[in-house]
Amino acid sequence: MRIPITKPYFGEEERKAILEPLESGWVVQGPKVAEFERCFAEFSGSKFAIATSSCTTALHLSLSALGIGPGDEVLLPSFTFVATANAVEYTGAQPVFCDIDLTTFNIDVAEIERRITQRTKAILPVHLFGLSAPMAPIQEIAEQHGLRIIEDAACGFGTFYRGKHVGNFGTTGCFSFHPRKAITTGEGGMITTSDPDLMATFKSLRDHGALKSDLVRHVDLGGSLLPEFTRLGYNYRLTDLQAALGVAQMKRANHILEARRERAEKYDDLLKHEKWLKLPEAPSDHIHSYQSYVCLLQPRNASWRLRKPSLEEVATIHQKRNQLMQRLEGKGIAVRQGTHAVHTLGYYRGKYHLSPDHCLMALIADRVSITLPLYVQMTDEEQDLVVRELRTCVESLGL
Ligand SMILES: Cc1ncc(COP(=O)(O)O)c(C=O)c1O
Repeated sequence: MRIPITKPYFGEEERKAILEPLESGWVVQGPKVAEFERCFAEFSGSKFAIATSSCTTALHLSLSALGIGPGDEVLLPSFTFVATANAVEYTGAQPVFCDIDLTTFNIDVAEIERRITQRTKAILPVHLFGLSAPMAPIQEIAEQHGLRIIEDAACGFGTFYRGKHVGNFGTTGCFSFHPRKAITTGEGGMITTSDPDLMATFKSLRDHGALKSDLVRHVDLGGSLLPEFTRLGYNYRLTDLQAALGVAQMKRANHILEARRERAEKYDDLLKHEKWLKLPEAPSDHIHSYQSYVCLLQPRNASWRLRKPSLEEVATIHQKRNQLMQRLEGKGIAVRQGTHAVHTLGYYRGKYHLSPDHCLMALIADRVSITLPLYVQMTDEEQDLVVRELRTCVESLGL
């Protein structure tokens, strides 16, 4: 039996849905995109939802529309996917990496305060693996210092903080529909905002800076003339084929999210007595959506729970973690490191002269995290097998 890290949840509804644009002939930025946006806004409780080609392009549009550029600094956690920082780099601004809280894997609020300078323009918190960043203190700091908040909610579909869906705490929220996410359109993204001017700006910027979309030109009189282009825009459009898939996925969003939570709770139950593994934790005012089920390896003698470890200690457990992942892969069970510490990646390390301990907790998370397989169709037998093999491998490595 081979167990993948994840599997999209597609069925007859999705198969039928993607035929609709083929039959109507509207295959890009058309009625299905508009329908997907409406469904998404309703589900997330957002005033506006604007579809884009990916979360990376959603982040880029958010930063650009807010006028962030050369000379500006944007605060973000180091432990995130590289795309979060790349979006800042595209604008010419500087990403400033903050360390994380190892309990939640999200940005450490104290680090935000420590790294604010005269040049800081925005905070870019990430709701990593489906758990919200601590938005109340982040909003407080942003208000005190006159900073914008752009939420990287790539993993945040179905994630709630104090009863509100993520993407509604900052000026914008940016979502991803990559196949590793709870619902997928292959590639795809969404921006949420409550600001009508920004909504109009995003619609224009995603479409080369056009003042009128093709869909509007199609139904309006005077569509034979090209519209005015007042801004430097991009081609960040979503296709109707992707949006049709998105609409079908949205129709079963609650089922998908519930099934993912059930699987996560089952892991919690099966693994709760294993001292060598720190399981994901959700503070009481959070609803975790488990985009990924990410644990930390913490062998009995690991000291980072009590004090800051040395880089040598981290390196030793890192080796064991990699051996563990290799053994599991050998048994047909796909596992992954959680994500990476972006300040340690060649481009950022080199450009900004960052040492590995610039963000030590992010480094630890990079080196000793392990993601277990989780998907809607996963059976009890598959999940039991993952846990059994995990225990066997940990024992054989003497952890
Ligand atoms: C935290 C985070 N931000 C941004 C992205 C980029 O999303 P996309 O692949 O849709 O551009 C991802 C994708 O994995 C992510 O995990």
